[in-house]
Amino acid sequence: MPATVLVGTQWGDEGKGRFTDLLAKEMDLVVRYQGGHNAGHTIVVDGEAFALQLVPSGVLYSHTVPVIGNGVVVDPAVLLEECAMLEARGIDTSRLVVSGNAHLIMPYHYEVDLMTERFLGHNKLGTTKRGIGPAYSDKAARIGLRVQDLLDEKIFRQKLEVVLREKNALLSRVYNRLPLDGEEIAERYLKELAPRLAPMIGDTVGLIHEALAAGRQVMLEGAQATYLDVDHGTYPFVTSSNPVAGGACVGSGIGPREISRVIGIVKAYVTRVGSGPFPTEVEGETADRLVDRGHEYGTNTGRRRRPGWLDLVMLRHAVRLNSISDLAVTKLDVLSQFETLKVCVAYEGPEGERYEHMPYHQSVLHRVRPLYEEVPGWGDDLAGATKLEELPKAARSYVELIADQTGVPVSYVGVGPGREQYVTFSA
Ligand code: IMP
Repeated sequence: MPATVLVGTQWGDEGKGRFTDLLAKEMDLVVRYQGGHNAGHTIVVDGEAFALQLVPSGVLYSHTVPVIGNGVVVDPAVLLEECAMLEARGIDTSRLVVSGNAHLIMPYHYEVDLMTERFLGHNKLGTTKRGIGPAYSDKAARIGLRVQDLLDEKIFRQKLEVVLREKNALLSRVYNRLPLDGEEIAERYLKELAPRLAPMIGDTVGLIHEALAAGRQVMLEGAQATYLDVDHGTYPFVTSSNPVAGGACVGSGIGPREISRVIGIVKAYVTRVGSGPFPTEVEGETADRLVDRGHEYGTNTGRRRRPGWLDLVMLRHAVRLNSISDLAVTKLDVLSQFETLKVCVAYEGPEGERYEHMPYHQSVLHRVRPLYEEVPGWGDDLAGATKLEELPKAARSYVELIADQTGVPVSYVGVGPGREQYVTFSA
């Protein structure tokens, strides 16, 4: 059975978790393929909210095997804490498998993240300060420690000694910070964390391929989103991995021919956290209304998200970048409060030129003007809708506009935070 990829089409926080959760019901394996605990998914089950950072959403179903793929960066303490939190709330985490090839987030990664941001001053990226970028940098520089190193004390210590020499020089001589104690780190990772993580470590590539060969359902769950992709996002205001669907192959160990469906998650409006260009950003009362009704504060960091109107230029380009087969629209109910809505259908460049797709040159993107189509709102509360016919006409038209403008069908529409609050909208 071919695999399905779920990918965010904007700057993250599209509500991927709730659709991963919905689709996980039919899945045998749910695999995270990139990112780390910079991600935050909130899933509401029977009125109870579960905030997940590292563990794939599939964990909430007892028949699903949650997998942390090789493309993820893992802070073992955070992972174990999350498992303990889930266990305390009656969720069995014993099926979780973590790739031995995934890289570890180490204490110096947090320090370097913090100090790099501080040194960038007003050019800072607004990272989550979880050590994500520095961990991926070390991976690319081939000085990273991997999850499997926790199982070999000699290798772990050797690698740590080498890398810490450089990190401590950087921390003390450049950043004027105290050097870190290698022995303390080794003791903590090897003696405290490794024995608890060891039963979860496994050959995830083998596991995924066996599942695919046996005709089982595999879902690859992206964290962050298309425009936070290190290659295709609004660089440098991006994360350090590849959330795009192509990253799902690399981060899980399968080839593109194994994927048959790519679901793009699109919030009915747009938000972003941290710095960077945002053509349809709004301020003032409209912003407050979107943030308040949409509860647009980071799951992890509590930061207020920057809100804006739906941007179809971004979305069209995201469809291309990810080979999106169908879309899931989230949080349509948040727009119910507006009499009219704005949807960006194109950009006008600094010379008056029209862009239907993202301009490749970042400095153009910083200076574009969004060209809006104004569409009627629906006023009614959508929360109870479960069928297409129950959506007000204007809400249906809004969703149809998205499908028409992007050329891909919309399969689901979220109308509330609960597990059952969605409408199937397939043609
Ligand atoms: P980092 O991933 O912590 O390095 O942060 C880089 C950029 O990605 C910052 O602008 C963050 O706000 C953003 N970012 C990282 N993870 C998420 C996420 O899960 N949702 C939304 N934005 C994110």
